[in-house]
Amino acid sequence: MQALTIIPGKPNSASVQDVPEPPQKDGSVLVRALGLGICGTDFELISAEYGWPPAGKDYLILGHESLGRVEEAPKDSGFAKGDLVVGIVRHPDPVPCVACAAGEWDMCRNGQYTERGIKERDGFGSERFRNEPEFLVKLDPGLGELGVLMEPASILAKAWDHITRIGERAKWQPRTVLVTGAGPIGLLAALMGHQRGLEVHVLDRVQEGLKPQLVGDLGATYHTGPLQELKFRPDVTIECTGVASVIVEAINHMGNDGILCLAGVSSHGQNETLDIGTINRTMVLENSVIFGSVNANRRHYEMAERSLCKADRGWLSRLITRREPLSRWQEALQRKPDDIKVVLQFAAA
Ligand code: BGC
Repeated sequence: MQALTIIPGKPNSASVQDVPEPPQKDGSVLVRALGLGICGTDFELISAEYGWPPAGKDYLILGHESLGRVEEAPKDSGFAKGDLVVGIVRHPDPVPCVACAAGEWDMCRNGQYTERGIKERDGFGSERFRNEPEFLVKLDPGLGELGVLMEPASILAKAWDHITRIGERAKWQPRTVLVTGAGPIGLLAALMGHQRGLEVHVLDRVQEGLKPQLVGDLGATYHTGPLQELKFRPDVTIECTGVASVIVEAINHMGNDGILCLAGVSSHGQNETLDIGTINRTMVLENSVIFGSVNANRRHYEMAERSLCKADRGWLSRLITRREPLSRWQEALQRKPDDIKVVLQFAAA
């Protein structure tokens, strides 16, 4: 079968090649791939910033934003041929740590977790893949091709879950959320803020086009320009750019009892000067929380599904700005200025 692969550690080694059928050890459920979302992590893997092949192999099948249909499943697995499914990315560490033992592998304590398409496990970017039932999520069939947004949505479902848990340390009635970055992660963060009844603000450097339109159509306010010029201090900020200068501005612009969730991974080599004394003083006097959030566990995938099912399908479908067939995988891996989410299409849904 055909698969999109990289050689971890070797920059720009992405290629589509023939690989063996998925091994039985990957799981009892065989899935036929429909679509694969491409994200920033994939570009970092392709440029060899990180990435680890499975033991004994020199290549890694790329892809962690999956959508597929079950082809074969054991009777007692809870899955049947034709089910629309998404694969869970992270698998618990083998020890396991307390978090992984409780199914909260997104909070792995010892870093020995593995991730499909990223760390020591082949990804979902192949015509067929296998998974254990406990690492597959069945989707509402009505979501159809939009199901490819499940994995990125799970990342935001987790971020919002943790924001809520932190907020509830005391009496909490948030009113405003600021999202920095209007890429897929930022727009899904905004969607979930809107679904929580908050006043949503999104800040991005792009001045016109689809991103401001999507924000406006959500009933949210779009901002461009310096963050410190915003006329309000948000109760919640979700930082989705990973850009160091934006992070500094976000830290310096939190509201009282504010929560800043860092959801974007920064590239190396961005230096910014921070006045830690002032930041500490403000954080102590205002009960601020700044925290990082990565990955998602099964509960978050379920939360993400509910959120996508509630959302306007027309709005969601506009997040997918390009679909490229496998034969045009090179185009799929080219970043274009108007891209939001690009999907590599394996088969029709
Ligand atoms: C994925 C996460 C993963 C993280 C770090 C992200 O792009 O969505 O599932 O944990 O990369 O590897």
